[in-house]
Amino acid sequence: MTNDRNFDDLAGRFTDNIYGSPKGQIRLAILQEDFDTLLSRYPANTPLKILDAGCGLGNMALYLAQQGHEVVLCDHSAEMLQRAKQLFAEQAPAAKVTFIESPVQTLQQHVKGQFDLVLFHAVLEWVSEPQRTLEGLLRFLRPGGYFSLLFYNRNSLVMRNLLRGNFRKLAAEQFAGDPKSLTPTNPLLPEDVYCWLEAIGLKILSRTGVRIIYDYLSREIRDQRSVEDILEMERRYCRQEAFIALGRYIHVLAQAKV
Ligand SMILES: C[S@@+](CC[C@H](N)C(=O)[O-])C[C@H]1O[C@@H](n2cnc3c(N)ncnc32)[C@H](O)[C@@H]1O
Repeated sequence: MTNDRNFDDLAGRFTDNIYGSPKGQIRLAILQEDFDTLLSRYPANTPLKILDAGCGLGNMALYLAQQGHEVVLCDHSAEMLQRAKQLFAEQAPAAKVTFIESPVQTLQQHVKGQFDLVLFHAVLEWVSEPQRTLEGLLRFLRPGGYFSLLFYNRNSLVMRNLLRGNFRKLAAEQFAGDPKSLTPTNPLLPEDVYCWLEAIGLKILSRTGVRIIYDYLSREIRDQRSVEDILEMERRYCRQEAFIALGRYIHVLAQAKV
């Protein structure tokens, strides 16, 4: 057991508000591009072993499974895992997939061996001991394997509050979301996360800002522009240094020592 946020009671809202909206569409599109680039390092049709730790609805693992990779999905929320199973049953019934209900911190009790690629997406900001949790995940990464980390960027909350003139909130440094909301309990500072990754011996290969524009747009502008047009701008700027830092999330690809 952990005190980390279990999404059993948030599953419906997460499904609708994130993956049922442009937020999820943009997130998936940008991450898929990063994975396409990463996986092009392997010869075509090389099947990989991939772990999605804190998989939620399993959308990213589905994309990878549909390319013939073997995926293991883990979440401590039975409700999220049930939705992931349903997604796979509908969209990839022949996929090589295993579902495990467990906190990532005790996953070694269920999983033997190591993986070519480990995903840890939008979970670190919900766990009570982020640095130690990251360290624990290393055991699942084979030497030279890749680690895909997506984390919620605290600086993007600062920027949004600056733009809205919420100066009192900034002075009070109130960044944790309400326990019942989809804003995480522990939004993270990028410099902390990069230090943690390097401290455990991972080499950062690339960084991408995810939703560097969308979250700052007014409702009026969101209504006036198509998702495709916004996505085109996200794609254009998301890997440029100045804009990576503004992403609501930052996606880091890192590699374990050989
Ligand atoms: C914001 S969702 C992200 C889901 C998915 N990775 C994605 O990017 O769409 C966070 C997920 O992490 C799960 N989670 C949080 N703490 C966890 C832990 N210690 N072990 C396993 N899953 C955890 C929650 O139940 C939830 O499904």
